[in-house]
Amino acid sequence: MNANGQPVALVTGTSSGMGLHAAVELARRGLTVVATMRDTSRSAALTDAAAEAGVELDVRVLDVTDHEAARACVDGVIADHGRIDVLVNNAGRGAVATAEQLSLDEIRDQLEVNYLGPVALTKLVLPHMREAGSGTILTVTSVGGAVGQPFADAYCGAKFAVEGFMQSLAVVMLAHGVHVSVIEPAAVASDFVGNVARPGGAAAPGAADDPYAGQLAAYLARSAGAFANAQTSSDAAVAIVDAALSTEHRFRWQTSEGASAFVGLSLADTDGSRVLGATRGWIETSPN
Ligand SMILES: NC(=O)c1ccc[n+]([C@@H]2O[C@H](COP(=O)([O-])OP(=O)(O)OC[C@H]3O[C@@H](n4cnc5c(N)ncnc54)[C@H](OP(=O)(O)O)[C@@H]3O)[C@@H](O)[C@H]2O)c1
Repeated sequence: MNANGQPVALVTGTSSGMGLHAAVELARRGLTVVATMRDTSRSAALTDAAAEAGVELDVRVLDVTDHEAARACVDGVIADHGRIDVLVNNAGRGAVATAEQLSLDEIRDQLEVNYLGPVALTKLVLPHMREAGSGTILTVTSVGGAVGQPFADAYCGAKFAVEGFMQSLAVVMLAHGVHVSVIEPAAVASDFVGNVARPGGAAAPGAADDPYAGQLAAYLARSAGAFANAQTSSDAAVAIVDAALSTEHRFRWQTSEGASAFVGLSLADTDGSRVLGATRGWIETSPN
């Protein structure tokens, strides 16, 4: 609790979509919310939604790929609010291209935003949460963090990576009272599709000699169908906030039944309890 008796949440990527709605929903449920975004001149949609909900947010600038800025941001939140109880690693971006169409720099960009960004912020908040003996770190991954999908090689690779990092960390932090988990949306209506990177390269999508053109066209048509029935950002944000504030601590959440069913294609452990149950015993310390 901060000086106002409220837990403090830090949310990334709040200029649009799920991050915007999750920031407002967390404030509606009584948390002090630090809502971050790359460009605060684009905060109008967020501040309008907050005003409509009758809540106030502390809006700050943060590009999650700028690790010095992340350090300054976390230090600033601790200085001003005294603590961070909930970190929602929401910022992320897709890339539609298959391996041959991706340069290593484009793959690295996907890792920077979807993997290293959340990992670096997690490392920055962990000491504060561990010393407090409590805290929640929730990372918005994707069904693509469990199920590889065509033309999402770099995106799914980065989302798988962040899930592996968080699952390994989760079992260690349990003993310190810090809950580390991921939440996997399926198709959600947001700015995501518009913001997706469409890398060029040797076999640029859409080029006349593109050997993948037919497959990409089929994929994009299928994807458009999925997004026509997408979950709303505000619905998905409620699921994110429910997971962040839940007293039922599990590693893996999905934002919808459809997302759970899809993740079930790859996983027999859709809530993560089997893996955490198995690895927990490996690091049990005997009481002194
Ligand atoms: N929509 C879907 O179907 C879907 C499905 C599964 C998972 N997800 C995941 O859900 C999360 C939220 O996405 P969304 O659907 O709400 O899409 P969105 O509307 O595009 O929101 C993504 C947010 O991330 C921000 N962002 C991107 N790069 C950033 C950076 N380097 N530093 C800080 N912020 C950055 C964007 O800010 P700018 O305005 O500055 O670009 C935006 O606010 C992402 O992690 C995404 O991968 C989305």
